[in-house]
Amino acid sequence: VKTSFAIGTLEFKNRVLVASGTFGYGDESLAPELLNELGGIITKSLSMKPRDGNPPTRIVETPSGMLNSIGLANIGVMKFVASKLPFLRTLDTAIIANIAASTIDEYCHVVDVLEEVDGVDGYEINVSCPNVKEGGLSFGTNCGMVEEITRRIRQRTHRPLIIKLTPNVTHISDFAKAAEDAGADAVSAINTLIGMAVDVKTRKPVLATVTGGLSGPAIKPVALAKVYEVARAVKIPVIGIGGIMTARDALEFLMVGASAVQVGTANFIDPESGITIARGIRTFCEENGCDDAGSLVGCLDAKTGLSVLDTWL
Ligand SMILES: Cc1cc2nc3c(=O)[nH]c(=O)nc-3n(C[C@H](O)[C@H](O)[C@H](O)COP(=O)(O)O)c2cc1C
Repeated sequence: VKTSFAIGTLEFKNRVLVASGTFGYGDESLAPELLNELGGIITKSLSMKPRDGNPPTRIVETPSGMLNSIGLANIGVMKFVASKLPFLRTLDTAIIANIAASTIDEYCHVVDVLEEVDGVDGYEINVSCPNVKEGGLSFGTNCGMVEEITRRIRQRTHRPLIIKLTPNVTHISDFAKAAEDAGADAVSAINTLIGMAVDVKTRKPVLATVTGGLSGPAIKPVALAKVYEVARAVKIPVIGIGGIMTARDALEFLMVGASAVQVGTANFIDPESGITIARGIRTFCEENGCDDAGSLVGCLDAKTGLSVLDTWL
């Protein structure tokens, strides 16, 4: 069974990657032999300078999911290069650096630093960060900003460029098209959905930041619909993310049009989730006479001719 696929010139050995922020810098939980079974590792979002992130409480469990307001805590790109990349370079899996920034110049600076070093196979750009210059609103909710960030980074690198989309917009496909038009090699979707939790005893929000990002199985149906919408709008590969716990979940994403998937929250329950899911996709292919997992991508047999955006009418 062929499980590999490519984004631009970069080959992935299979279609399962671990999602940013749920697997640290790849050096904490699993032995290299296991890590090498992943299609790729996406790092925690890296910013130019180290960030402490938000004050506690910054994680709360919810029915079928979790809310987080980590606030992009990370060691900064310099320390990543010095202390994490040497280990990551020894692995036989794709290493994707996820980048977060509060100005477009900061995104560019982080890319410039990483362009100088070996061992980074591609970039995933987290546009769900507050944009300091534009007054705190997220870049990812402004189509023109997504286009400009993509274009500016595209000018600086030949490495595969993935733009990670937020679902907290009206039409996510507009943002996917903006990224595609500006030269992205792929888009990934979805980042977390805005949510909140309240403690009725104290009458206070549970998270110090009041709202946070919802992830886990609770968001899978939303993520599937968003990925379906995006996959029908762009020609570049789409990487599906959101509540994937099992190989069956991952297969659903492939069928609605994702070329690959990322496993996030599941890693907190079992850091081997991604590996189990990659093996499960292979087994499904073997048992169903499918000699290339790629033939499952977009194979959904949807009878309706309605556009995704019209189906609620
Ligand atoms: C604790 C936590 C931290 C996260 N940190 C990041 C991050 O630094 N950058 C990013 O792009 N996404 C981050 N995410 C979002 C995930 O990569 C993923 O898009 C989201 O959780 C949905 O997938 P899941 O339901 O499989 O977790 C984080 C998610 C969680 C739960």
